[in-house]
Amino acid sequence: MSVDLFDPTTDDLSHLAALHAASFESPWDHVALADLLAAPGSFAFHHRDGFVLARAAGGEAEILTLAVAPEARGRGLGRALMIAATSRSQELGARDLFLEVGAANPAALALYARLGFAKVGLRKGYYDDPRAPRARGEARDALVLRLPLPAKFA
Ligand SMILES: CC(C)(COP(=O)(O)OP(=O)(O)OC[C@H]1O[C@@H](n2cnc3c(N)ncnc32)[C@H](O)[C@@H]1OP(=O)(O)O)[C@@H](O)C(=O)NCCC(=O)NCCS
Repeated sequence: MSVDLFDPTTDDLSHLAALHAASFESPWDHVALADLLAAPGSFAFHHRDGFVLARAAGGEAEILTLAVAPEARGRGLGRALMIAATSRSQELGARDLFLEVGAANPAALALYARLGFAKVGLRKGYYDDPRAPRARGEARDALVLRLPLPAKFA
């Protein structure tokens, strides 16, 4: 499944906001997404049915959000978006990729485990903060996961 690098100057931020709202209880609107994408090292990959937003800086990268439309899940899009973000993080010099995931989010936990992420921390009550995008129906604690990235040579 192919995904594209998001270009904030030509691609539709409102569509990303709609995808985010369909997956998370505290959605990020197009203004919030534009701010995140404007930060140095930020990038996104997108597809009609999903997107991933990440940031690479100082030798580390972080997945800020990942969303696949409910009706499009289970067809490999989440994996394709994560693989693209992993590759881009390597290209930007990151040696580790981090993310926070709800401790009771089986789909995301299974996806990340299959990609090789391992637990490195627990944040109790992380999703009590309304700024943390909690997936719909998810519990309050978050796990911090890390994927070591081998150096990528051009
Ligand atoms: C998590 C999410 C992005 C997965 O997207 P997806 O396109 O359905 O995932 P894929 O089809 O690429 O599945 C990849 C792997 O994830 C796992 N997986 C996906 N959905 C699953 C489910 N419902 N139950 C168990 N495992 C699941 C499987 O291991 C699968 O690999 P396999 O097909 O080889 O068995 C999607 O469910 C989603 O948007 N959820 C709401 C938002 C969210 O939770 N984002 C992550 C926050 S950290």
